[in-house]
Amino acid sequence: MSAPDPRILSVTGRRVWDSRGRPTVEAEVHLADGAIGRAIAPAGASRGSHEAIDLRDGGDAFGGLGVSRALAGIADDVAPALAGRSADDQAAVDQALITLDGTTNKQRLGGNATTAISMAVAHAAAASAGMPLWRYFLRDGEARLPMPLVQIFGGGAHAGRRIDLQDVMLVPIGATSFDEATIMAAEVYRAAGLIMEEHGLLRGVADEGGWWPEFSSNEEALEEAVAAIERAGYRPGEDVALALDIAASQFRTGEHYRLTTDSTNLDTAGMVERLVEWCRRFPIISVEDPLAEDDESGMRAFTAAVGDDVQVIGDDYLVTSAERVTRAAAQGDCNAVLLKPNQAGTLTETRAALDAARDAGWRTIVSARSGETEDTTIVHLAVGWRADQLKVGSFARSERMAKWNEAIRVEEALDAAARFAGQAAIGGASVPINT
Ligand code: PGA
Ligand code: ZN
Repeated sequence: MSAPDPRILSVTGRRVWDSRGRPTVEAEVHLADGAIGRAIAPAGASRGSHEAIDLRDGGDAFGGLGVSRALAGIADDVAPALAGRSADDQAAVDQALITLDGTTNKQRLGGNATTAISMAVAHAAAASAGMPLWRYFLRDGEARLPMPLVQIFGGGAHAGRRIDLQDVMLVPIGATSFDEATIMAAEVYRAAGLIMEEHGLLRGVADEGGWWPEFSSNEEALEEAVAAIERAGYRPGEDVALALDIAASQFRTGEHYRLTTDSTNLDTAGMVERLVEWCRRFPIISVEDPLAEDDESGMRAFTAAVGDDVQVIGDDYLVTSAERVTRAAAQGDCNAVLLKPNQAGTLTETRAALDAARDAGWRTIVSARSGETEDTTIVHLAVGWRADQLKVGSFARSERMAKWNEAIRVEEALDAAARFAGQAAIGGASVPINT
């Protein structure tokens, strides 16, 4: 093998398609030593208003979601700017993208273009170094597999708003390895499907593979999730717990939260009360975006009420921004961060948000989007950055399974040295954090 030479020779983009059949950007990076890196940008459906913007063509084709302009930016602006740079200097590459874009939200080049390029550069650098991507990120650290959060029912913007709750997820807290965690997820997911079938409620799956939530109230989704855990032979709250993504910005109207499924309109205090009650009645150990992205006092009130026992995650609330994480930590708005590379637009900015969360003593959750592909970069980020948890949707549809299966491969590659984050990687702030 010739000596590594990670200088970037070429950067190209191509249109490929995501799990919703929509156009997205794949970037491909070739290095002087022949190494190649490739990555595909995902796309959200319930986006935070402060996240990086995907550059889309507008017009009639593909419902306005074409990516020709994003690809033109890669060919005309990015490729010449990155040529000759070292792929091994991710920070410099990402800074070049940030400078070239020149906006606060990547609207000129498009977060879809910058995310794909940033990740493809990392893939190329790892290939040049002859390492799996997770090892390249980890360097000399000890690898650790994250605790998976696996969707059982998909709702909100991912299921035509059939129920208000966006994600009802299982957390296999009793698992002692990632492999075992997937076995538990498979059994609970299957049991939930059987229950839906018996009740005549089986209608297929939502955007992230969770069962279509054919329920008459939000609570019924929680009850059925608990029933599925039991049906699979596990103890709710001991072997398998629940996690929710409320994605509350999606049903905020003016000063109120409109829970359509429950025919209720709640103010902030009412919404906090409702969520606290669910946390008491159900084995819920994690709640994401409990209040809307602009409801700071609501986030703070909810975290003050449950934060010692329940993980409170900011997704739309923090949009993978180090600055927002630091501010939210100072104010006690939440106690964990969801990390989505395409909310920030580069790996370096995503890593900065993770570091800010660690500095605050928070837990970290690497996450996919509702529009995904076969790309498994986030699994490598989660392992390589020693994130506590990994959220990639449900236990169906290959854009989801590609991630779980990749994590199984990584765990196997670690063999005796394998470490699973386990139960210590999730829970209220009172549980010691094992970074
Ligand atoms: P997305 O949301 O549809 O924007 O990807 C997923 C989430 O809220 O976690
Ligand atoms: Zn979310």
